[in-house]
Amino acid sequence: MTVRSLADVAAALVVPGKGILAADESTGTADRRFAALGIAQTEQMRRAYREMLFTTPGIGRYLSGVILYDETIRQKTKDGKPFVDVLKDAGILAGIKLDAGTTSLPFAPGEKITEGLDGLQKRVAEYVKLGATFAKWRAVIEISKSGVSPATPTARGLLANAHALARYAAICQEGGLVPIVEPEVLMDGDHDHTIERSREVHAVVLPAVFEQLAALGVRLDGIVLKPSMVIPGEKAPRNASIETIASETLEVLSETVPADVAGIAFLSGGQSDDEATQTLNEINKRAAGSAPWPLTFSYGRALQQAALRAWNADEANVPKAQAVLLERARLTSLAALGKYDALAPTG
Ligand code: 13P
Repeated sequence: MTVRSLADVAAALVVPGKGILAADESTGTADRRFAALGIAQTEQMRRAYREMLFTTPGIGRYLSGVILYDETIRQKTKDGKPFVDVLKDAGILAGIKLDAGTTSLPFAPGEKITEGLDGLQKRVAEYVKLGATFAKWRAVIEISKSGVSPATPTARGLLANAHALARYAAICQEGGLVPIVEPEVLMDGDHDHTIERSREVHAVVLPAVFEQLAALGVRLDGIVLKPSMVIPGEKAPRNASIETIASETLEVLSETVPADVAGIAFLSGGQSDDEATQTLNEINKRAAGSAPWPLTFSYGRALQQAALRAWNADEANVPKAQAVLLERARLTSLAALGKYDALAPTG
């Protein structure tokens, strides 16, 4: 891929009114979600579920891209059509999860580092042949629980994770994939994980990432940033309003994300589907065209939760589950334009 086409793919991923479906759950994560609903944890079940998602009639109106897992990018519909071709025919770009999950970071109690850099050049080349045009790598930043010392993230954790993200992003761009750069600040913290603390942490994570991206020569018009929103931990005492989450998120991004980044596509991070739609909508209403980058979604759970429940591993439920997915994608797409109205009748 040329430099020009990296920027074109990045721009296509964040085109107004469209966003990304993260359907790249590792086998372990997909199986955990199936197990919670009593669905059999087999390759065939994962394939059937993803076929339901990707063959949803009309889904290309709302999705610019779908992120796939290694198993999924090699799978086909029951009629033998590769998923990558199903997506292509719907006008959707295929992406691939490149990280191999996290492990503990040495000399950094409580902190994680993402693995997957070894042999990455070769894997990128293979995925390009399989039809991928973009990729994802998730770094996990955990806000320490109250009373834990040293408080995390530490400078060591930030440096290691930002550097790994930048190594991955440079390898992708050289090999012809647009990297989604995902530094996720987890939101499952306790009472010290206030919205203020979340903002402070985002305010150090994002500059660390951009410093490393610059140091390793990554072109910012050929990346999509996938950040978390500034949200209090699940067990924090005061729940912040949608308006506060939106204003804090937008402010910290404006202070830290260079204007030449192609676009921002948020993760949902454990917000409910309604909440993730409302927060994205409020962010876009506030940005109102004045932010230097498009602000859209790259949601996993917030797009899939209800559709997975509606499907429930029964072929007869496919049309119903697809209707649920399509409606959630439509509402999230409206939110990406700042035009979602929570009180309007659903379509
Ligand atoms: P969630 O939207 O469920 O947080 O998933 C997005 C994702 O891709 C996490 O890496």
